[in-house]
Amino acid sequence: MEFPFDLTPVLGDRFCVVDQHLRPAGRPGPTHRGDLQQQLRTVIDELGKASAKAQGLPAPVTSAARMESNRHVLYILRDPGGAAHRPPRGAVIGFLKVGYKKLFLLDRTGVHVESEPLCVLDFYIHESLQRHGHGRALFQHMLQSERVDPRRLAIDRPSQKLLGFLRKHYGLDDPIPQVNNFVIFEGFFSNRPAPPRRPPPKRPEEQIKPYSLSERDFLREEAEPPWPFNLRPAGGSPVRGTLRPFVRRDGRTEPPAGQTDAPPPPRRASSLGR
Ligand code: ACO
Repeated sequence: MEFPFDLTPVLGDRFCVVDQHLRPAGRPGPTHRGDLQQQLRTVIDELGKASAKAQGLPAPVTSAARMESNRHVLYILRDPGGAAHRPPRGAVIGFLKVGYKKLFLLDRTGVHVESEPLCVLDFYIHESLQRHGHGRALFQHMLQSERVDPRRLAIDRPSQKLLGFLRKHYGLDDPIPQVNNFVIFEGFFSNRPAPPRRPPPKRPEEQIKPYSLSERDFLREEAEPPWPFNLRPAGGSPVRGTLRPFVRRDGRTEPPAGQTDAPPPPRRASSLGR
């Protein structure tokens, strides 16, 4: 994906990490050059649009404005180009967005566990460059920077391509069923740190949104159960049909039939992981 401006002062070298402050790579100090920041915003917005299109989403889940209002981290992979490149120098290959979220997750035995994992929220490699190893390079860079084991990640409604990617590169092929949009894998709950001696301070109610805190929640669509409950029989359509499961007319989320409106408190203090 090329842009009509030199990407070097905007994104730096091969990997660029952007947080909610949207600092261009060549601008570590306070001397902001407005044009560079505007160019960075353009890059993020265009990447977000391309990702949404590739995933068949009705609107981007990644944009400069959404980055500013969330504590997410964007890893951008760039082709810096060679000496032979003439402006626009280099192109963007893709991006990966991650962020920590408070979630109620089910362990293998069906017990709710409050957790705050690093979540994979959006991931895109340009169509012409998929299956060339760029996704793995970007993912690997993120894992090293965030110092996280891939089994500890929660994935926000993964596409079939991403499921294949995780299976192939990280052996993640045994999901633990959830009632929200997130997918976690075997190993997520293993070797959690010892529980704190005292219970953690109670958080305000609104910070804990048990069932549907997907990054994609604002994309309202017809209600349908989330992955993997929306899987159709063999030959059916892929898993990303709907983006807001269990949405009531008043906009609140509700769990599947047979479950209470609020999740039960975690029954195993040892699984809190904090
Ligand atoms: N069909 C099926 N599997 C695919 C495809 C595809 N078209 N493309 C990549 N994969 C999986 C396969 O396991 C593939 O291995 P294989 O070629 O041996 O079958 C593996 O990924 C290739 O690994 P990389 O080359 O490192 O991955 P890539 O650079 O293609 O990036 C990504 C993977 C980001 C999923 C990319 O395919 C993409 O952008 N897809 C479209 C957007 C998308 O689905 N993003 C994830 C949305 S969900 C979320 O972000 C939480």
